[in-house]
Amino acid sequence: MKIGTIDLGEHPVFLAPMEDVTDISFRLMCKRFGADMVYTEFVSSDALIRSVSKTQQKLVVAEDERPVAIQIYGKDVDAMVEAARICEAARPNILDINFGCPVKKVAGKGAGAGMLRNIPLMLQITKEVVKAVNIPVTVKTRLGWDADNKIIVDLAEQLQDCGIAALSIHGRTRAQMYTGEADWTLIGDVKNNPRMYIPIIGNGDVTSAEICRQCFSECGVDGVMIGRGSIGRPWIFREVKHYLNTGELLPDEPFDWYIDILKQQVLQSVERLDERRGILHIRRHLAATPLFKGITDFKQTRVAMLRAATVEELFHIMDSIPEKFGIIR
Ligand SMILES: Cc1cc2nc3c(=O)[nH]c(=O)nc-3n(C[C@H](O)[C@H](O)[C@H](O)COP(=O)(O)O)c2cc1C
Repeated sequence: MKIGTIDLGEHPVFLAPMEDVTDISFRLMCKRFGADMVYTEFVSSDALIRSVSKTQQKLVVAEDERPVAIQIYGKDVDAMVEAARICEAARPNILDINFGCPVKKVAGKGAGAGMLRNIPLMLQITKEVVKAVNIPVTVKTRLGWDADNKIIVDLAEQLQDCGIAALSIHGRTRAQMYTGEADWTLIGDVKNNPRMYIPIIGNGDVTSAEICRQCFSECGVDGVMIGRGSIGRPWIFREVKHYLNTGELLPDEPFDWYIDILKQQVLQSVERLDERRGILHIRRHLAATPLFKGITDFKQTRVAMLRAATVEELFHIMDSIPEKFGIIR
């Protein structure tokens, strides 16, 4: 699969853009485990053109994570064009436009998935952004606004006509937010539309190597994007890529192998922010990791882990888990 001239190989697997999750250290870690392409957190075009420094920091990309896309959102054509140019100067490989964010503070104001209620404006923004930059522009969106407006098959054609180089589709409507199950049938319908020639990247509820392979084989998508399944589990990309390449499931690693990765995440987060904010930031990953699922009577240890205020305290708890719960290291 190719986006513009960027060759992503066969069956590429992408790390989804996630606010407050896909910072530079997490992207590098997922890349290390085999993610074929990574995305920044979404960047507000309005904040970018006002030079808000926290937003500008989100544009920093590393050589080792390439190919990388910077994702922007907004509802104003001029602001989006200007933001697109600012992003291009930060030298990502791709610029992605977010037309899928369902949260009130974004969609409620008409940006993100809110644009699914104003298709003419969505198309105008897309066309102008494509014109404004020299790197490939891609779009990420949802099936439609709600169950009565699943417009993605027609919309995909219209977006393609605006000149985008690939389209990512999360198989939910805006109204669904993150509830229910992602519907991949419509993603498959977009892919099977003979008018479509740009790559289609499917997204939604991919949490294992087997599900990922099924998405490729049953929907025929060109790429699969993984979001929540990677939180607290960046090694999912290693499992998925191994299965796609060999048809065999990767055997489990020793418990300490996984603990060591989570500890690396803690240290990177603390280094990037500071001890207090770094630990706060990484709690989401520690809370989501499947590593501790199924351990009997783990609740108290989990609470202690999520309350730990220093790296020393946190690592002490993490290191004590195998002995406390009789887990082979
Ligand atoms: C915490 C969180 C933050 C997200 N932030 C973004 C974002 O900045 N841009 C975006 O396009 N999607 C964002 N999403 C949506 C994901 O990219 C993805 O489309 C969605 O989670 C469905 O995929 P999944 O089932 O693999 O998680 C976010 C999702 C989560 C859970």
